[in-house]
Amino acid sequence: MKIKSAKFEMSNTQVDKCPKGTRPEYAFIGRSNVGKSSLINMLLNQSKLAKTSGKPGKTQLINHFIVNDQWYLVDLPGYGYAKVSKTQKEKFQGFITDYFFKREQLTCAFVLIDIRLEPQKIDLDFMSFLGENGIPFVMVFTKSDKLTLNKINQNIAFYHKTMLEFWEDFPNYFVTSAENGMGREDILLYIEQLNVDSAG
Ligand code: GTP
Ligand code: MG
Repeated sequence: MKIKSAKFEMSNTQVDKCPKGTRPEYAFIGRSNVGKSSLINMLLNQSKLAKTSGKPGKTQLINHFIVNDQWYLVDLPGYGYAKVSKTQKEKFQGFITDYFFKREQLTCAFVLIDIRLEPQKIDLDFMSFLGENGIPFVMVFTKSDKLTLNKINQNIAFYHKTMLEFWEDFPNYFVTSAENGMGREDILLYIEQLNVDSAG
């Protein structure tokens, strides 16, 4: 799919205030600092549309970006960031889970996982939450430029093994790098197909 246009539309913390209409949307979620905002910029061929930072906790709102005047990418705050206060953490969790429960336009969630780390409980728990609530999702391994291909395959195999202890199937997954563009074409093709399906 060609990206002809990509624009910021709005930020907020209330799912009821998110854009109206029936355009399909895709939300990027995962631990703070995993690379959600960077991946959005990489997919959209932008350098600064979504705000990124070396420090975790940068994205704090639900951010809608409209692509090709047709569909939305949604940049969400990370979960599992220990340095925000407890009340703020509860608020994030509240509005993030609210978003997933209520947002009918959500066509697929992209759960980002740092390819360098062993499976983390918080990610497994979050995917269980999505699964239990029937929310479609895929996994996106990030920062693949930091590992060799061998190590990438090893880590994915280990993830696979861990998840099969709880799940019947391993979800669809993508291996990406915001640094070198790996995974870009595959994700855009996947979204294009879902856009077609949701229109039919
Ligand atoms: P929060 O908004 O805080 O939840 O973080 P985020 O998940 O949006 O992460 P962000 O995109 O801001 O990236 C965090 C850091 O990781 C930044 O320093 C990025 O440059 C770096 N980073 C993100 N993606 C990649 C990648 O694919 N490869 C490498 N090497 N670094 C990356
Ligand atoms: Mg971010």
